[in-house]
Amino acid sequence: MAIKICRLISEAEVRKRVKELAQKISTDYTGREPLLVGILKGAWVFMADLVRYLTIPVKCDFLAVSSYGASTQTSGIIKITTDLQSSIANQDVLLIEDILDSGLTLKYIIDTLKRRNPRTIKTCVLLDKPERHQIEIKIDYLGFTVPNKFVVGYGIDYNEQYRHLPYIAYLSEKEIND
Ligand code: IMP
Ligand code: MG
Repeated sequence: MAIKICRLISEAEVRKRVKELAQKISTDYTGREPLLVGILKGAWVFMADLVRYLTIPVKCDFLAVSSYGASTQTSGIIKITTDLQSSIANQDVLLIEDILDSGLTLKYIIDTLKRRNPRTIKTCVLLDKPERHQIEIKIDYLGFTVPNKFVVGYGIDYNEQYRHLPYIAYLSEKEIND
């Protein structure tokens, strides 16, 4: 069966928006040195670009959570599979996430990390699918709102494929269901 990748957000648009987010974050955190926490694996490309546009010093750490596996639906069961290497007590934590779908993953991470007494905890999310939210969740820095489609590219995968695409695309229904 032919694979259909439909382009949604171009490489140039992504770059422009990531720069804007970095400028806003740099302004908001002036005089501080936040700890950026990337949620693996999806946020890795986004975070790598974002940090290079920042004009403030930052620290970086990563967290891996159980993912959808080969399905396009959340299992609802979330657990940390690789934890942070450093303590976040008294740190200004900025969570970097690729995409917000039901919101359950980010909610679980925020609730878990809040119990470790960070000074502040904020969220930076590249893509948001508001139609899919199951809970209310605050995004402090948002890249783009996307329609209710399964998106890939710029670090985001479907079954470990398509992470390398420099743009953001969605897969046609046909490809996922066939
Ligand atoms: P949530 O818990 O339903 O919000 O799911 C969030 C996680 O599911 C994201 O961090 C992604 O890893 C994955 N995910 C959600 N929607 C998509 C998508 O359209 N494409 C690829 N991964 C997705
Ligand atoms: Mg993710």
